[in-house]
Amino acid sequence: MQSEFWHNCWQQQRIGFHQHEIHPLLPVVLSQLNWHQSKAVFAPLCGKSLDLWWLARYGKVIGAELSELACQQFFHEQQQEFSISLQNEFQHFSHPAVDIWQGDFFALEPQQLGHIGLIYDRAALIALPAQMRIDYVQQIKRLCTAPVSLLLLSLEYPQAEMSGPPFSVTEQEVRSLFDFAESIQLLAVRNLTGRPFAQRQFNVSQLLEKAFWIQW
Ligand SMILES: C[S@@+](CC[C@H](N)C(=O)[O-])C[C@H]1O[C@@H](n2cnc3c(N)ncnc32)[C@H](O)[C@@H]1O
Repeated sequence: MQSEFWHNCWQQQRIGFHQHEIHPLLPVVLSQLNWHQSKAVFAPLCGKSLDLWWLARYGKVIGAELSELACQQFFHEQQQEFSISLQNEFQHFSHPAVDIWQGDFFALEPQQLGHIGLIYDRAALIALPAQMRIDYVQQIKRLCTAPVSLLLLSLEYPQAEMSGPPFSVTEQEVRSLFDFAESIQLLAVRNLTGRPFAQRQFNVSQLLEKAFWIQW
């Protein structure tokens, strides 16, 4: 997916992937896991997700997002004050609870994130076509060194019935992409067949959202 595609989505506010509520699995899953951690939380390809504000209870949240508009809206819509500084090809949006690196995720360097304890991926991996998913996982691995846990919310549907994004990423592909991980656990499956995915309704015969807990 080219950057231009996403910039256009934000400029035209074609952001059907955006949820107006906290993702329902997020509190359930993290409380089941009894997750408590003081290291930072990383949210790649974060958009203006409200989940970041919720995740801030676990520690500093660091997002990465291509669109400046998304970053502006993220803070303005919650009436939160922030500052911006320029760092190489990135704009760094800074706030006591959430920072966002605005720029290309693939150009991020590990020192920009520091030590990450939890990665939260909602609609990031599934936003990318197959080859970019491989690059995405390699970059995640480069940025976040062990020990780290990833909460991955993936989506599965018959790919022939619709073109992405969001793309279908099967459990088999998840296991293959993260074959370096120490453990990959399927935590929950939500059957969204016939139901909306955020603000969008897809005409597909099956739609499953799967939550994985991946540790390395
Ligand atoms: C499907 S949206 C998901 C946003 C968010 N995770 C959510 O749950 O609402 C994908 C986001 O990734 C951003 N994005 C795409 N390519 C990117 C890149 N190379 N670097 C940083 N962000 C990127 C897009 O601008 C878009 O906001």
